[in-house]
Amino acid sequence: MMSEDMKRLAAERAVADVTSGMKLGIGTGSTAEHFVRALGARVREGLQVIGVPTSERTRALAEAEGIPLTTLEETPALDLTVDGADEIDPALSLIKGGGGAHLREKIVAAASTRMIVIADSSKCVETLGKFPLPIEVVPFGLGATRIAIGKVFADLGLSGDLRMRGGAEHPFVTDGGHYILDAHLGAIPDPQALAAALVAVPGVVEHGLFIGLAAKAYVAGPDGVFEMT
Ligand code: 5RP
Repeated sequence: MMSEDMKRLAAERAVADVTSGMKLGIGTGSTAEHFVRALGARVREGLQVIGVPTSERTRALAEAEGIPLTTLEETPALDLTVDGADEIDPALSLIKGGGGAHLREKIVAAASTRMIVIADSSKCVETLGKFPLPIEVVPFGLGATRIAIGKVFADLGLSGDLRMRGGAEHPFVTDGGHYILDAHLGAIPDPQALAAALVAVPGVVEHGLFIGLAAKAYVAGPDGVFEMT
């Protein structure tokens, strides 16, 4: 089975958990896009939901699929968020932000009673950190912020690579108008301690460590979808 088919299977499994009346957080990325398409098909069959998209990209797709949308201002408490991940460890801690949407994704997941992660099995790891950790920072004071982040990673001698727009000389800019530093850590033995140290750095808006947010993951492998709780 191709990875895209696995992502679709995981997404379809999550759509089966959606019931009429739910207020949904709608994730970002290629796996989440399968969810949006499958949800759109159910909405056209009569399923009544309302969703908060986690990125402008997801908003555009959800609108095209005819999914009614709202905001966290109008609807501050959600029932369920379904989103992809870049890495999932056995405790359901995640690295997210490969698509640069982790700030809105984390706000939306935290506003939800439950978060379900959807992924293909290549995302499952024993220890987080092989995937570069995205750290969203304000453009003001970038040099100083990088030095401060470098101190958090003192023994590794790195401060994160400024993410660039595909093939361009300009930095990638998030939906919130921020930059992203991708930190190639290799392994994150204590995600909780790293998360606390990063949020303490002035200029850091959010990082891609999602700890204690996901309740369940639907992971699709060559033999089908399995559930992690
Ligand atoms: C975007 C994300 C995505 O959920 C993550 O990058 C996974 O993406 P994909 O489903 O395309 O592999 O965190 O910020």
